[in-house]
Amino acid sequence: MRRGLSGNPRSIAMHPSFVSRPFGSEQGRFLALDLGGTNVRATLVELGGKHDVRVLDHRSFRLASTSGSTDDLFGPVADFLMSVLTEHGADGMGYIFAFPVNQSGIRSGRLTKWTKEFAFDGVEGQDVVVLMERAIRDRMDRDGDFRIRALANDTVGVLAAGAYLDPRCDMGLIVGTGANLAVAVPNDMIVRRDLPASVGNTSEMIFNMECGNFDGVDSIQTDVDRKLDAESDTSGQLMEKMIAGRYLGEVARLRVLEAESKGEGFEGWVGEGGDFSAPYSFTTEQLSDIIFDDSDDLTATAMELGRLGVATTTTDERRHLKEICVSVARRSAGIVAESIVATATYIDPGLNDEHMVAVDGSVFRGIPGYREEVERGLALTLGEGADRIQVCYLRDGSGLGAAVVAAVTASSRMEGG
Ligand code: GLC
Repeated sequence: MRRGLSGNPRSIAMHPSFVSRPFGSEQGRFLALDLGGTNVRATLVELGGKHDVRVLDHRSFRLASTSGSTDDLFGPVADFLMSVLTEHGADGMGYIFAFPVNQSGIRSGRLTKWTKEFAFDGVEGQDVVVLMERAIRDRMDRDGDFRIRALANDTVGVLAAGAYLDPRCDMGLIVGTGANLAVAVPNDMIVRRDLPASVGNTSEMIFNMECGNFDGVDSIQTDVDRKLDAESDTSGQLMEKMIAGRYLGEVARLRVLEAESKGEGFEGWVGEGGDFSAPYSFTTEQLSDIIFDDSDDLTATAMELGRLGVATTTTDERRHLKEICVSVARRSAGIVAESIVATATYIDPGLNDEHMVAVDGSVFRGIPGYREEVERGLALTLGEGADRIQVCYLRDGSGLGAAVVAAVTASSRMEGG
């Protein structure tokens, strides 16, 4: 983190967001676009100015693919957005682009690399605001003008939304398809000197850590992790590959394959014809469902496996599979807890202040017992100090946050900032 904040990042980039946390007094009606996976969302948000937020409209659509040309990505998103824009007026739009973007200002930034197995051509190295605005303008009347007010990572969004609702919030965490953290850093800890003052509160800046890319986890990688990484289309992201929804099902599936090859059961599961043998055929949702199944002989698990073409299984095998799923999920939650601890104690080594992490994401929300495991991890590492860190789930926090970041930008312009 220190290296990142001094402008010499290694595996944790610490990308500046150019914005601070909100004051909670920002007002107005803002549109939020949240693009970070196949489920693209638009939310119209009314900020009341007293730490209160109302969602006026929320829509989503699914991208057909995670690869293709630049137009295959920005075209459908712009079509979707146009349908929302023609219906609603707003004071501005905030844009969440939930991939590693090296921002050069509040409304510009280049994609450094795709993550989460996304792979659209011609986007890496490009300014994702320019690409989005161009696609929207192409769909407007000839003299139509459209400007995105603010660009932010989804972790920055969830942090901004959390802080709008509760000023103690100083970290934003996503554990969904991908995994990453953002943190509000006081100016005296920002070693690099090339950054302008933040929009909003000039005494701090939020940083998108991009800690899913942390490679210090190589010492705890298993053979399965190394295999998953070698076969992945996304480079790096070693920690994310142990934590995030894009990968957990596959980690469990590879662990089953490994056990089978060692003669530890699962005979016939990976044979030809069954879906279980195909990469990524076992999803993180299925892993969740199996953890959720607490029947004695794991009947729901047997049905789930039947759907994957694994027709005959023994109760012992199903129990073994459940143990694998539980341990994969538990490890993910444990690493998330350690990441929170590392971040909180970096900005406040003695944990003298109260901290709050706002969290969004399907893994945190969806895997049974996940949240408790994160809390257990905090308590294991910090003992009573864990009381200083609250972890709060904030549904659609990143979308709300896009609106909040746009509002911070708008009100600082009004004040001439
Ligand atoms: C991936 C992206 C990161 C994002 C995270 C959660 O790690 O690189 O930018 O915040 O997923 O969506």
